[in-house]
This record gives sequence, structure tokens and C-alpha cells, in this order.
Amino acid sequence: MLQITNLHVYYGNIHALKGLNIEVNAGEIVSIIGSNGAGKSTLLRTISGLIRPRDGVMTYEGMRIDGLPPHEIVRRGIVHSPEGRRIFTNMSVGENLKLGSYLRKDGNVSADVEKVLVRFPRLRERIKQSGGTLSGGEQQMLAIGRALMAKPKVLLLDEPSLGLAPNLVAEIFRIIRQINDDGVTVLLVEQNANRALELAHRAYVLETGTIVLHDSGQALLANPRVKEAYLGG
Ligand SMILES: Nc1ncnc2c1ncn2[C@@H]1O[C@H](COP(=O)(O)OP(=O)(O)OP(=O)(O)O)[C@@H](O)[C@H]1O
Ligand SMILES: [Mg+2]
Repeated sequence: MLQITNLHVYYGNIHALKGLNIEVNAGEIVSIIGSNGAGKSTLLRTISGLIRPRDGVMTYEGMRIDGLPPHEIVRRGIVHSPEGRRIFTNMSVGENLKLGSYLRKDGNVSADVEKVLVRFPRLRERIKQSGGTLSGGEQQMLAIGRALMAKPKVLLLDEPSLGLAPNLVAEIFRIIRQINDDGVTVLLVEQNANRALELAHRAYVLETGTIVLHDSGQALLANPRVKEAYLGG
């Protein structure tokens, strides 16, 4: 569904992604694990058109997408829930959700808000509250809910568990599984390697801009090198 070949990305002289090859098949959850600065967010920002690669090819459903502007990527069904959530703190929960559908031409926004509220009952209770007053976990739910409003075929999630208490981390990962069960393909980047590998059909290990391992999530959980570096021995 999504194929990335020999992707090179630079920030000035910094070579952030050094020839990545990644593929995501329809219906999969694919996780990318890696430490701070490995290039995880850079990868998602490049896929969603926010950064232009210096070299490489990205195809989606057989068509080139590298070089397309972000709104064209969203229109094709690739939707990014960014690191740090980036919700609008002065707008209400409901307004934040409606913004997620701004590129869509069909008029079913209210029905889609309702679907998101069924998935996130905490957001329903807080629908009129401003985004900035939500807890970290609730803001993460809002960020994912807003991404769902764009009707993704592929959902790009950047560290959804960052900074959350363990019970909320479990809840967020349960919700990601449900979203995938409903037919949305997921590309997840995470520092929480344990959870991300448990959830993933397949996964990649990214170290300083290079993929050093890829395998099924289960196989990587059992891999001694992954255990040592990412799962606390
Ligand atoms: N706007 C920028 N300008 C210059 N360098 C950048 C910029 N954004 C990221 N980098 C550098 O590119 C590399 C990859 O950064 P990136 O944010 O993709 O890492 P990450 O894996 O998402 O890390 P984290 O887990 O901390 O979010 C890092 O060395 C970082 O310093
Ligand atoms: Mg990041």
C-alpha cells in the first residue's frame, strides 16, 4: 500500500534519514521503534509531505506521492497525528474534531464526530471544554480523534503514548488496535518498544537514520539485540 525506497532526508547538513526502505501493506499495523533523534518523526513528516526528501521514492497505492503537498497526501487518505498532539488549545474539543474534516467535501461531519465520540467517551464528556484544559491522555485521544475525522486509510501516529500514565498507555494502544480492526492501516512510531512491538504485525528498528532490523513484532520482541537495547535487557 505504502512503499518507501531509498529515502534520504536532510536538515541542512544533517543527514537525518539515510536510505530507508519501508513498506506497509493494507490492513497492517507497522511499528517503527527507535531512540531519541533516530529519525522517527522525520520519517512521518516526510511521508505526510511536510519535508521534501533529497532522494528516494515514495509510492502509495501504486502512485508517486513524494513531492506532493500535505493537503494532497491527506486527500489520498494518509493522515498524520503528530508528536506532541498539536491540538488547538483555545478551541473546544468539538471544534478541534471538526477541524480534522476540513478537507472533506461530503457533508457528514456531525455523524463522523458522533463515531469518534463513541470511540472516545471521555471526549464526549468534555465536548465543550477547551483543548488546553484536557489532560495529556485526553489530548492524545483528541489528536487521534481529529485524525480519524479525515477518514484515513493509513493513519500515521507519532508517539501516541508519550508522557502518559501506564493505564492510559494501555487504553491508547487498545484504541489503536480497534481502529486497525475497523480497517485502517497504521504506521506507528514509538519509543515504547514493548507495546509497539506487541501491537505490530511487522516492525522496523531505526537507529540514527538507518533501518537496522525488520521482522514480525513477535520476532523482534524475542530478538536479543532488541531486548538489550530497547526492552531493558
Ligand atoms: N528542524 C530541524 N532542523 C535540524 N535538525 C533537525 C530538525 N528536526 C530534527 N532534526 C534532527 O534530525 C534527527 C532526527 O530527528 P527526529 O525528530 O526525526 O527524531 P525522533 O526519532 O523523532 O526523536 P524523538 O524520539 O526524540 O522524537 C535528530 O538528529 C534531530 O536533531
Ligand atoms: Mg519524534
